[in-house]
Amino acid sequence: MEFYNTNISKESFALANEVFSSTYLSAGKMAARFETELNRKLGLENPVSVNSGTSALHLALSVAKIGRDDEVILSPQTFVATGMVILMQGAKPVFADIQYETGNIDPSSIKDKITSKTKAILPVHWGGYPCDMDEINEIASKNGALVIEDAAHALGAKYKNKPIGSISQFTAFSFQAIKHLTTGDGGALCCKNTEDYELAKKCRWFGIDRENSSPSILGERIYDINEIGYKYHLNDLASAIGLGNLQTIDNIVNKHITIANKYKTELKDVPGLKLLNYSADRESSYWLFTVLVEKREEFIRALKDRGVPTSVVHQRIDRNSIFGITPGLYNQEKFDSHQISIPIHNGLTEADVEQVIKAVKEGW
Ligand SMILES: Cc1ncc(COP(=O)(O)O)c(C=O)c1O
Repeated sequence: MEFYNTNISKESFALANEVFSSTYLSAGKMAARFETELNRKLGLENPVSVNSGTSALHLALSVAKIGRDDEVILSPQTFVATGMVILMQGAKPVFADIQYETGNIDPSSIKDKITSKTKAILPVHWGGYPCDMDEINEIASKNGALVIEDAAHALGAKYKNKPIGSISQFTAFSFQAIKHLTTGDGGALCCKNTEDYELAKKCRWFGIDRENSSPSILGERIYDINEIGYKYHLNDLASAIGLGNLQTIDNIVNKHITIANKYKTELKDVPGLKLLNYSADRESSYWLFTVLVEKREEFIRALKDRGVPTSVVHQRIDRNSIFGITPGLYNQEKFDSHQISIPIHNGLTEADVEQVIKAVKEGW
């Protein structure tokens, strides 16, 4: 049994072949079709396709003009990409505490960390479970800050019936190899405002307006760059993989939800194991199924012996030397030493899921 899997649909092969035959590999018609479908199928608002989730996050900070002397409040329970993009802009990452019961940033800790320099709040939907977005957006707007959601794990998740990707000023998704939807590597930045959307499209390709700049007689596009831009566009080959995979995304997210519901029913009374909290007003996309276990190493070894892989996936990032030390993150401390995820993905058979449940119930 694998801990992760990679989903490539049949349609992806056909669409990738179309791109090969066309010999047009750069960002073009496939990228545009992929963006249209991300919006139509999943309700993502103004998605700008890019070449990674990290690029999507960085582009958001760049478009929002976050820079030197600005502070960005984030969750430590994430992958380093979330903190790195803040440093890339020369801004200061400020770590807030999380909720032990969800792994998500705690709005009351955000309030404690707000200063006059706070420019943005960057919540991470751990494992695909949406953060307290109403509270977070309210704190942001009261304090003149904006919200950038790190939704790398949360494609297909919903908060109060709204798709993640349609709520805050910016939302960044990852389409890296083992996510619900993959383009190999890739991502998308969703922008609520048209102005941000237009700027994001420009800045993902060197600050050049690709859609409205045609080549001169000399053979190069006519342009005048007035913003720092990047080479972040998603090429047509990667977009073809993504577009094909959108055909099966509903089934994949539903499979994660079905497995999670089974785990929730079967594992709720296992001694020494605590499920995370799930509120009825939101629906996780369950990229991960994280549980809290006090004797974690014994748990890992016992499950390994029974053929079931487990992983912490990411440990708190604030302990990396580049970020310095943030004292007082007590829930993060506890979560970091107890959290562990069990397999949940589209490649699991019913027998695999039964094997995981049995392995956990046998104890450690
Ligand atoms: C929470 C989180 N944010 C950002 C990223 C970065 O995404 P990518 O690998 O597509 O750059 C990841 C990667 O897995 C992640 O887990």
